[in-house]
Amino acid sequence: MGKKVLVIGQGGREHALIWKLKQSPEIEKLYAAPGNPGIAALAECIDIKGEETDKLLKWAQENDIDLTVVGPETPLMAGIVDKFSAAGLKIFGPTAAAARLEGSKVFAKNLFKKYGIPTARFEEFDDHDAARAFAHDLLKEGGPLVIKVDGLAAGKGVVIASTQEEADQALASMMKDKSFGTAGDKIIIEEFLQGEEVSFFAISDGRDFVPLIAAQDHKQIYDGDQGPNTGGMGAYVNPPVFTRQLEQESIEKVIKPVIAAMEAEECPYKGVLYAGLMITAEGPKVLEFNARFGDPETQAVMPMIKGDLLPLLEAAVNGELKDHSAPLEPGNCVCVVLASRGYPGPYEKGQLIAGMDDLEEETIIFQAGTSLKDGRIYTDGGRVLAVVCRGADIGSARDKVYQEVRKISFEGMHYRTDIAGKALL
Ligand code: AMP
Ligand code: GLY
Repeated sequence: MGKKVLVIGQGGREHALIWKLKQSPEIEKLYAAPGNPGIAALAECIDIKGEETDKLLKWAQENDIDLTVVGPETPLMAGIVDKFSAAGLKIFGPTAAAARLEGSKVFAKNLFKKYGIPTARFEEFDDHDAARAFAHDLLKEGGPLVIKVDGLAAGKGVVIASTQEEADQALASMMKDKSFGTAGDKIIIEEFLQGEEVSFFAISDGRDFVPLIAAQDHKQIYDGDQGPNTGGMGAYVNPPVFTRQLEQESIEKVIKPVIAAMEAEECPYKGVLYAGLMITAEGPKVLEFNARFGDPETQAVMPMIKGDLLPLLEAAVNGELKDHSAPLEPGNCVCVVLASRGYPGPYEKGQLIAGMDDLEEETIIFQAGTSLKDGRIYTDGGRVLAVVCRGADIGSARDKVYQEVRKISFEGMHYRTDIAGKALL
């Protein structure tokens, strides 16, 4: 009998995961909690949020779910994997203790230090005055420094400070005003690293792993990496800066030692390892780890995975990844995010989206912030949807995706016109 699989989450990343899992011959029925209108075309959507872990467990038990796949980080930190596992249910993702790799920068940075994993030099602080004095000393050495709150801060807990005023402002906001709540009880101050950023994805079963692919996100809202940070405005895979040699170096110096370190610390890491790397003149250095797939990278990554994703996820859960690999499609894949007017600030909602029926057959739309009313799709979030195209190389995938993007419109729609541009310089 076919399997029943539940995917937790509601964004473009989860739409991409479900699109890929839908192709698995082993799956009889797909569910999403809570899902979105795009996902609803492929899976049955259940009205339970990712944070409602007890409700999700009860539902999964009652519905004989064979595997649960967790998209976002919050349910992981809330211990959804611990809960499902304790109840004997299979679930793909790290335990709460292992998810600290993303959830606590102090935990992660100290792990890197203890196990010799390349990362920016840093100090941790829980005292405001000590942090301020250290920041001033470091700034005198020249160059900017980076201040990070320990806990989750929806991408807003990192400040790059070039002057004492900027550093003072950030430290006061984090440590005195508690702008990030308890996430800012501890902070990290680290050296600024120069280079290009790469997101490198692997799947781990706690001991063995399968490298998937690297991608490059585009975090700022405007072309040329200008303006405020967003959740990510587009991505493409196999960035040329990440050569075969750098990939091998990252596997040897980052991925392998982190998995071994987590095992040695008695919180073996199962799930997606998302290494946020800076490719510096001295080689790859870890900026951060995430305990989940990237968004929007996953929207460009899933179309590149050649085989069935399900056996890979199951093998990770069962500790059987040793003999697995993840063959990839040739060429490249580019994803462009269409956003609402105002994003990443307060944004408009409720605009009718036109043109989605006019796309080429092989073009993929992954919906993120949308709503369905009377059979029509409206905007309902900051990042509304992603347009995704494959091509023989980066250039052709990019040309194709922008041709398709221009067919779609909604009031206030904006997007970056330079996704993957760096790769073509
Ligand atoms: P993180 O959440 O630690 O990945 O930081 C968010 C973003 O801040 C990264 O994606 C980088 O663009 C930037 N960043 C973080 N740490 C550093 C660093 N040490 N040097 C330069 N940029 C950094
Ligand atoms: N693309 C950035 C993230 O998923 O955190």
